[in-house]
Amino acid sequence: MNLFVIGKPIKHSMSPTIHNFWLKKYSKPYIYTKKELDYQSLSNVIDEIKQKKIIGANVTIPYKKDVYDILENLHISARRSKAVNTIYRQGDTVYGANTDGIGYCEALKQETQLEIKDKNILILGSGGASYGILSELIERRAASITISNRTEEKSFELIKNFEKSTTVFKYMKWNKIIPVAETDLIINTTSFGMNEGETIKIEMKDLKDSTIYSDIIYKPKITPTMKIFKEKGFTTQNGLGMLINQAAEAFRLWFNINLTNQDIIEAKELCEKSY
Ligand code: ATR
Repeated sequence: MNLFVIGKPIKHSMSPTIHNFWLKKYSKPYIYTKKELDYQSLSNVIDEIKQKKIIGANVTIPYKKDVYDILENLHISARRSKAVNTIYRQGDTVYGANTDGIGYCEALKQETQLEIKDKNILILGSGGASYGILSELIERRAASITISNRTEEKSFELIKNFEKSTTVFKYMKWNKIIPVAETDLIINTTSFGMNEGETIKIEMKDLKDSTIYSDIIYKPKITPTMKIFKEKGFTTQNGLGMLINQAAEAFRLWFNINLTNQDIIEAKELCEKSY
C-alpha cells in the first residue's frame, strides 16, 4: 500500500522528497511516488484508495478541480475552495480535502509570525491556487481582501464564490496595483515570477514598513518581485514553507500524526538542498 502525487506534468514535484522523509522517520513501510496520468485514470485512483490498495494521494495541476467534481465526499476545505489536493480514506469512505490554505497560513505564521485575523490582504491572481488560500484567509477572519488579476472576469468569479463571508472584498486593476497604506500582506498566487525578469509592477509608496510580501512560487528561491521588496527593506517569503506545510496536513489526514516543528524544519532543509 503506497502513496503518490498525481498530475500532468509531474516530474518537477518535490512532494516525494518531503513525504518519503517523514514516512521513514515515522517508520511507515510505504513509498510515495509521482504518477503522471490522464484524466480517464483519475477514478481508478479513487477506486484503489477505496479498495485499500493505496493509502491516499495528492493531486496537483491540472486535476484539482476534476477530482473535486468526481468525489462525492468532501472535507469542508475542499467544499469551500472547490478544489482537492489530498485524497484520503476514513473507514470505507474516500474523502477529498484541500490543504493548500492551511499550508499557506501555517508557513506564514512560522516564518513571519503574522496571524491572518483582522489583516488587510492583497491577493495577486485568481487561478486555482488562490481559491484554496482565500478560503483559509476567510476562515481565519481576514478584515479585507483586495484581489488583482490580469483577467478581470476571473477575479469577479473568485469574489462571487466567497461573497457570503463577512470579509470585505475589493478589486484592483492588474496594470494599476497601488496597495493602500493599511495593507498588511501581499500574496502572489500567480505563476508570474518563475522566470527572470517577471517582476510584478506594484507601487510601494503608500506601504507601511511592516507589510509582508509573500510568493507561493518556490523556484526560484527569490522571485524578481521578492527581490525588489527585499531591497526596499520589506519582509518577504517564498512558497517552500507552504509546500511543506500543505504536505504536513496531508500526512495528518493519512496517518493521524501531527508532525512537529522539527519535522517541518528538517523537510525544508532537505528541499533547500535541491536549489
Ligand atoms: P494555478 O492553479 O496554479 O493557480 P491557473 O489556474 O492557471 O494556475 O492560474 C494562474 C494564475 O497566474 C492566474 O491568475 C493567471 O492570470 P490570468 O487569470 O489572467 O490568466 C496568472 N498568470 C499567469 N501568467 C501570467 C502573466 N504572464 N501575467 C500575469 N498573470 C499571469
